[in-house]
Amino acid sequence: MPDLMDDVVALAKRRGIAFQSSELYGGLRSSWDYGPLGVELRRNIRDAWWRATVQLRDDVVGLEAAVVMSPKVWEASGHVATFHDPLVECLACHQRFRADHLEPNEEGVTLCPNCGNRAFTEPRQFNMMLKTHLGPVEDDEAVTYLRPETAQGMFVDFAHVQTVARKKIPFGIAQIGKAFRNEITPGNFIFRTREFEQMEMEFFIEPDTDDTWFPFWVEQRVAWYTDLGVRPEKLRLRDHEPDELAHYAKAATDIEYEFPFGWQEIEGIANRTDYDLAAHQAASGEDLTYFDQEHERRFLPWVVEPAAGVDRALLTFLVDAYRVEEAPTAKGGTEKRTYLALHRDLAPIKAAVLPLSRNETLVPTAREAFDLVKGEWMCDFDDAGSIGRRYRRQDEVGTPYCVTVDFDSIEDRAVTVRDRDTMAQERVPMVNLVDHLKARL
Ligand code: GAP
Repeated sequence: MPDLMDDVVALAKRRGIAFQSSELYGGLRSSWDYGPLGVELRRNIRDAWWRATVQLRDDVVGLEAAVVMSPKVWEASGHVATFHDPLVECLACHQRFRADHLEPNEEGVTLCPNCGNRAFTEPRQFNMMLKTHLGPVEDDEAVTYLRPETAQGMFVDFAHVQTVARKKIPFGIAQIGKAFRNEITPGNFIFRTREFEQMEMEFFIEPDTDDTWFPFWVEQRVAWYTDLGVRPEKLRLRDHEPDELAHYAKAATDIEYEFPFGWQEIEGIANRTDYDLAAHQAASGEDLTYFDQEHERRFLPWVVEPAAGVDRALLTFLVDAYRVEEAPTAKGGTEKRTYLALHRDLAPIKAAVLPLSRNETLVPTAREAFDLVKGEWMCDFDDAGSIGRRYRRQDEVGTPYCVTVDFDSIEDRAVTVRDRDTMAQERVPMVNLVDHLKARL
């Protein structure tokens, strides 16, 4: 199983989906850059989330809050006082670890994963917020933080957004954006990093209606992954134990995926009650209650929050879609074929136009086919190498359809459309190409 992770990471690097950041200077630990195909995949993940969470609902609206917010936000929210992880240091090699990530061995002894030593410092609480200074003077007055969650933007802007959007409770505010945490032990490629992107939605509800809305959002969110092709048997739900709940949560359920490195959280759904609005109301002195006109009463809404990560979703989709199979060759033998069975909505490139050769009589017809499809979807035009190798290149990044333009195409004005998963080929008149693909994409 760990081989699968190595293969996926190698593919992601080789094809420029994600690779080490600042490599020119030896790289920066657990910092990753997303290349041309990674950018498309991330956009598709964000779009799929936005469509399901905002566009298809009339009770959720969007927000883009600033990454750097007033430091008072983080004092009021409890992050300055309690957004901690327990840090221990190996007394021999001085490597630092998150105490709750160290597993005792069969004899019940916890050994340093780096050097095998068994003695550590006492755990000390380490605040995970990334601190910075705003302005030219680096004194305590200028200290602020890069947001560790996008959620606080929705709480601080709740009253304003509710008024301008004229939404009645229950309603949600959704946001996609970068978040930063000074993780003690980042790792597993893009799984745990210090800079990452969240897709979060705060769903504001009447107090004590969480029994309805919490399971509703858990179900919706699991369906999002399975609708996008993730195998249901690779997903499970895990309720948080009381001692692992975040400081703001009354209850939380993680959606976990079975990665090659074990079952891990890809998304959390939390019942935040009125914790955050109450905290900001108390700290700011502003009234953040909601007036329910129908029942003529005021209350502080409670919140159910589905919180996902773009990077973890991307890793989930890559690992889940990775396939290797024996495929027939043109010469009657077989060869190993690697492909990503990505859902069509996620595939970075939807169709690749491949002229059979670089022969100049073919190019105008191939360009014509490309011009037909490029306005509809993100498409590729690839004329480099043998046709077999070009199919493999597209398979490897999950392109659902290859459109081959051959010498007959010049005369019969038809192209061959090849399906990534079945490798079946179909001759399609060029005038019908867009409709043919539209029916399948
Ligand atoms: N607002 C609630 C919140 O932030 P969380 O469970 O800490 O909850 C939500 O984070 C999601 O954000 C996680 O399920 C994960 O997908 C993503 N995430 C959190 N920390 C991350 C990290 N260090 N690297 C990559 N993704 C992370």
